[in-house]
Amino acid sequence: MPLYKAPRGTQDILPSEQPYWRFITQKAEALCQLYGYKRIDTPVFEETRLFSRSIGEGTDIVEKEMYTFTDQGKTMITLRPEGTAPVCRAYLEHGLHNAPQPVRVYYLTSIFRYERPQSGRYRQHQQFGCEALGVADPALDAEIIDLVWQFYISVGLRDLTLHLNSIGCPDCRPNYLQALKHHYSQQTGVLCQDCKVRLERNPLRLLDCKNPSCQEIIHSAPKITDFLCEQCAEHFQQVKEYLQDIDIPFTLNPYLVRGLDYYARTVFEVQPGRLTDVGQPTLSQQSTIGGGGRYDLLIEELGGNATPAVGFATGLERIILNLKKQNIVVPPIPEPMVYVAYTGEEGKHDAVKIAAVLRRAGIGAILSMGKRSLKAQLKQANVLGASQAIIIGEDEQRRGMIVLRDLIEGKQREVPYEGIAEAVLPPIDSYQRSAIS
Ligand code: HAM
Repeated sequence: MPLYKAPRGTQDILPSEQPYWRFITQKAEALCQLYGYKRIDTPVFEETRLFSRSIGEGTDIVEKEMYTFTDQGKTMITLRPEGTAPVCRAYLEHGLHNAPQPVRVYYLTSIFRYERPQSGRYRQHQQFGCEALGVADPALDAEIIDLVWQFYISVGLRDLTLHLNSIGCPDCRPNYLQALKHHYSQQTGVLCQDCKVRLERNPLRLLDCKNPSCQEIIHSAPKITDFLCEQCAEHFQQVKEYLQDIDIPFTLNPYLVRGLDYYARTVFEVQPGRLTDVGQPTLSQQSTIGGGGRYDLLIEELGGNATPAVGFATGLERIILNLKKQNIVVPPIPEPMVYVAYTGEEGKHDAVKIAAVLRRAGIGAILSMGKRSLKAQLKQANVLGASQAIIIGEDEQRRGMIVLRDLIEGKQREVPYEGIAEAVLPPIDSYQRSAIS
């Protein structure tokens, strides 16, 4: 047993796993460029009150899941449990309302939540998120949804379902909450313990209960979409029309609510798997690969002027889990193609120089280390996937020559020491190779 292990709910991403990460992050960044979203990085931690204010006091994240501590200066600090509030804070702090609106940004970042770890649920996970701030246009909701949907398509994921809903605004939601409370208050006997608390503190969260005994109550509950005010109904209608314009398939789910309190109007989540029972879509927390929506009141809540905004975030570990489930092969990360082997101490000096010459010419080179037989060195070159080996032997060295061996064809030839970089095949990134073939 090793003496130390990674903390529960965290994982090491070893080199063998990196091709997945490189593949999906490159796809994400390429898409963001295509849609005009620019990268933003915010600190790993923020003042706790930023999160409790924005995510909501009655949410699981704020109540049970934040990594919070008091620093030496007696400030309450929390490791980022989501990416939207920090972006809003940065928008306000840097006066980004003066930039052309909407301000379109994206992040690829670590998120920390003290959750019960299981497959697809970690205490530290990575999110790719996009936020578009400063515009209320429903076409922006459609753009955000389109972006995340195209992201899943671009990495090759199939059989996904996009759940879509509107949860109204502070004008129309109170009427709905009243109807919801009425519905639930007639069935308190069968409610789970958590829902009894939700009924009092945060009734919209009732719809998020995963407890089997509460499912029937959810599915007979009044639908929020029947309570939307004229403006919210019109906004929702337009979002749906724009999505239809660009052929994004969505499933209306009037019971979809999100785990954060800052949303108003449009909300959505993407689940792996096609729906079999469209009438009663169910959502499971660990499998949701992405979600988001409008948060038109959040920036005002944080002290700014009224600033509508919309965004999404998607969990990268869950995407990789689904890529593996769907047997999707990702391109390998290019390896240095030349292995530099040698015999004797003088040979080693030349090997060190040649490896440097190659690298400076942009050719990846791995230098053999220590004192090993040529056979052992060439075996390692094969294991590392090098396509060529340079062998610096004493005989050839005396003649100013070195051996260049093609490890794929098994053929070798002598080439002059000077001009070795030209003799080595031009480097082709295997990414380029996979794009060509
Ligand atoms: P969220 O739904 O809490 O939304 O998280 C977004 C995604 O992060 C989830 O759909 C899931 O894929 C992944 N995720 C969440 N928790 C975990 C976990 N413990 N382990 C692994 N993956 C996880 C937000 O965070 C919002 N800030 C999204 C947003 C952006 N809304 C508007 N803009």
